[in-house]
Amino acid sequence: MQLPVLSTEQLELRPITEKDTAALFSLFSKEEVTRYMDIDAFTNITEATQIITYFRENWEKQEGMRWAITLKGQDELIGTCGFHHWNKTHYKIELGYDLLPAYWGKGIMTEAIGIILQFVFEDLQVNRVEAFVDPVNTASSRLLGRLGFQHEGMLRDAFFEKGKFVDAELYSLLRREYNREAIWQ
Ligand SMILES: CC(C)(COP(=O)(O)OP(=O)(O)OC[C@H]1O[C@@H](n2cnc3c(N)ncnc32)[C@H](O)[C@@H]1OP(=O)(O)O)[C@@H](O)C(=O)NCCC(=O)NCCS
Repeated sequence: MQLPVLSTEQLELRPITEKDTAALFSLFSKEEVTRYMDIDAFTNITEATQIITYFRENWEKQEGMRWAITLKGQDELIGTCGFHHWNKTHYKIELGYDLLPAYWGKGIMTEAIGIILQFVFEDLQVNRVEAFVDPVNTASSRLLGRLGFQHEGMLRDAFFEKGKFVDAELYSLLRREYNREAIWQ
């Protein structure tokens, strides 16, 4: 089964393929992109190939979905977004997202995550969407706040990243709280 293409006014979210290798390397080799993520900045193009395989296997195992973010009418990958840790027993998923710095602050991820929320709540019957955010990643926290997520608390030493334990702010949005109109207004 092919990953569905999701469209918004400005964006097209499409499957990630081998043709995105160079764009993914450019994205994930930027330290400002990977700073608060659980991966080190890429230094070798083979890491981009490996992450494509990882995203595809996740989808094949039905554990997650990851899309390439493109501007409508332009096929170039400018970021990625999606979810992993898809737990069908408990109807929940965990969000992940990243964007090239040149596109930050233009509302692109609000729009991309907005359409993913619509897809997972309305088509996949997900009940709970979670996100773990580094306490100093203001852009990510504001993004989630704007989309209606609630802050549940801070998890101490939640992840071991880049050689040290880091705390994580836990956010969630439930299906019964999800307001499609409020996101798209
Ligand atoms: C987090 C990220 C995806 C946000 O994407 P974006 O397209 O710039 O976000 P939007 O333009 O839709 O803005 C969402 C909110 O974040 C705020 N924001 C965006 N960039 C910001 C920045 N550099 N500093 C502070 N706030 C910022 C916006 O003002 C907006 O909040 P508001 O509505 O309260 O004003 C982007 O900064 C990024 O790729 N960061 C690196 C990867 C990363 O940290 N991923 C998340 C891991 S949990």
